[in-house]
Amino acid sequence: MGAIILDGRRIAQEIQKELSPKVKELKEEGVTPGLAVIRVGEEPASAIYVRNKKKKALELGIYFEEHALPENTVQDELINLIEGLNENPMLDGIVLQLPLPQHLDEKRILERISPVKDVDGFHPLNMGRLLKGEPSFIPATPRGIVELLDRYQIPLEGKRAAVVGRSDIVGKPLAFLLLSRNATVTICHSKTKDLSLITKEGDILVIALGKPGFIKERMVKEGSVVIDVGINRVGNRIVGDVDFEKVKEKASHITPVPGGVGPMTIIMLLSNVIKAAEGRKLGK
Ligand SMILES: NC(=O)c1ccc[n+]([C@@H]2O[C@H](COP(=O)([O-])OP(=O)(O)OC[C@H]3O[C@@H](n4cnc5c(N)ncnc54)[C@H](OP(=O)(O)O)[C@@H]3O)[C@@H](O)[C@H]2O)c1
Repeated sequence: MGAIILDGRRIAQEIQKELSPKVKELKEEGVTPGLAVIRVGEEPASAIYVRNKKKKALELGIYFEEHALPENTVQDELINLIEGLNENPMLDGIVLQLPLPQHLDEKRILERISPVKDVDGFHPLNMGRLLKGEPSFIPATPRGIVELLDRYQIPLEGKRAAVVGRSDIVGKPLAFLLLSRNATVTICHSKTKDLSLITKEGDILVIALGKPGFIKERMVKEGSVVIDVGINRVGNRIVGDVDFEKVKEKASHITPVPGGVGPMTIIMLLSNVIKAAEGRKLGK
């Protein structure tokens, strides 16, 4: 039979169509949603991610600016740029493309983005609100995952969810989102013992660790929903963290890589920018 493929590309297009009139309406009222993305260094993957964000932003009619800084940028320069963008009334959202070069202190720099423009939801204030169940900006990847599950009408309440990976960007915020939807969540990481005992219990299994084909068929529960967040370059192909061909025979639903979580992430980020612009219109 094989699993139902959770088509993130199609759902992201559907959401884009829903967002488009909102942008038009905002523009008619004199508010053009604006996004600035900062990229430091020459990491090729980051350049591709920024290009994809820009393409979708422009399709939606969102004002977009990119600040590409050299690898040797010092912390104060970057903070000065962020503070300028915080003050810029044309911008609703600021994204700092991660990872940063080693010499820059990612956590401290993220704290300098104004929480009202923190469309990635990585500022401690927004993370704290998420933890308390009163989110403002929810990080785009976890939000995209939950949205994808909702659009396929996959129930979360009472389900066992196993999340592999505990990054601030994916694993941790996703675990709290699933918890807020009444799933019973276990978070796994590199020190987890007997990982497959936990993954096999997951009605919903989310993998965000960054190792190609790491999750094998024997680690997955029959009939489970498998969400593969991983983006790994193998030769000239992009693959996920799940052994897709084998696991899709056992799961009930599965995301492909590419075309699963990736497109959902971009559209959810832009949805956060539009939300921020709506806040600006209301003078929040
Ligand atoms: N599709 C998208 O839009 C999207 C968005 C963001 C990220 N990604 C991709 O998702 C993947 C994860 O990204 P990230 O930023 O969350 O990664 P990260 O910060 O590198 O975190 C990886 C996590 O995996 C855990 N881990 C590593 N090896 C493990 C093992 N053998 N068993 C169990 N857990 C293990 C680590 O545990 P420790 O905490 O113990 O080290 C860590 O929590 C990457 O491939 C990234 O490219 C995709």
